[in-house]
Amino acid sequence: MANNTDITPIGLLTGKVVFITGASRGIGAAAAQLFAREGAAVVLASRSADALQRIVAAIRADGGVADAVTVDLADRASIRDAVDRIEALHGRLDGAFNNGAAIQQPGPLDTTSDDDIEEQFAVNFRAQWYAMNLEAALMRRGGGGAIVNNSSIGSRRANPELPAYGAMKRALNSITETAAVTWGRQGIRVNGITPGGTATEMIDTWEAASSGVTERIRALSPLNRMASPREVAEVAGWLLSDRASIVNGAIVPVDGGAGA
Ligand SMILES: NC(=O)c1ccc[n+]([C@@H]2O[C@H](COP(=O)([O-])OP(=O)(O)OC[C@H]3O[C@@H](n4cnc5c(N)ncnc54)[C@H](OP(=O)(O)O)[C@@H]3O)[C@@H](O)[C@H]2O)c1
Repeated sequence: MANNTDITPIGLLTGKVVFITGASRGIGAAAAQLFAREGAAVVLASRSADALQRIVAAIRADGGVADAVTVDLADRASIRDAVDRIEALHGRLDGAFNNGAAIQQPGPLDTTSDDDIEEQFAVNFRAQWYAMNLEAALMRRGGGGAIVNNSSIGSRRANPELPAYGAMKRALNSITETAAVTWGRQGIRVNGITPGGTATEMIDTWEAASSGVTERIRALSPLNRMASPREVAEVAGWLLSDRASIVNGAIVPVDGGAGA
C-alpha cells in the first residue's frame, strides 16, 4: 500500500500562521514542509538552530514563508520567548502543532532514572501545558485558532519499555481534552494525535537500545509497516485546518490500526 509520496497541495492552511515544535527532524520537519506547501506561514522551533535554518531555507526556496526560533522545551522562558517571537513576526497565531518530545532511556519501571522521569515531565508534559497556554492567549487575541498535541499510541496502554514516556503522553491526552473543553467557547479547538511507529530518529534511538523493536512494531501493524513522518503530519495538518472545524477534544489514532 502506498505510504504517500507526492500529494498535490490543496491550500488546506492558506493564510494561517502555524507554530511547530520539534521541527528540526522527523514528524515536525515533515509537518513544517507540508504545512508550508499547504499555504501556512510556519514558525519552526527546536534546540538545533542549524537544522531549523536548513529547513527554513528549503521552504523559502520552494516559495513558502518560514522562520525559525530556537527553543529548549525544558526551559519555560524559552517557550515564552518563542511565542513572543511569533507575535513579533506575524502579530497573530492560528495554529500550533506541539510535537517536540524526548524519548526516555528504554527500560522497565524499576530502572527508569530520576533524570529520565524529570526530563519526560519537563519536555513531554510541562512544556506542552505551558506552550498551549501561551499559544491560546495569542490565538484569543486574534479571534481563535487550533492546537494539535502530538501524543503517542504509547499513551493508550501499558508501556513496559517506556514507562515514563507513556505516562507523560497519557497526561498530555488529559490536558488536551481539558483545554478543548475550557477554550472551545473562545474559538480555540484542541486535539491530540496518537501516532504508532513512525520512521524517525526517535525509533532509531529506541532500536539502538532494544534491538528488534522496529520489527516488533512493524509486525503489530495491520498495514505491516511503519508510518512515514509525512503521513502523521497530514493528520495534524487536517486537524489544524478549517476542514476539521467540528473536531474538538479528540485524541485521534494515527497508527495504521495497531491500536485497534
Ligand atoms: N516516531 C514514532 O514512532 C512516534 C510514535 C508516537 C509518537 N511520536 C511522537 O511524535 C513526536 C515527534 O517525534 P519524532 O519521532 O519525530 O522524534 P525525533 O525525530 O526524535 O524528533 C524530536 C523533535 O523534538 C525536538 N526536541 C526534543 N527535545 C527537545 C527539547 N528539550 N527542546 C526542544 N525541542 C526538543 C527535537 O529537536 P532538537 O533535538 O533539535 O531540539 C526534534 O525536532 C514526539 O512527540 C513523539 O513522542 C513518535
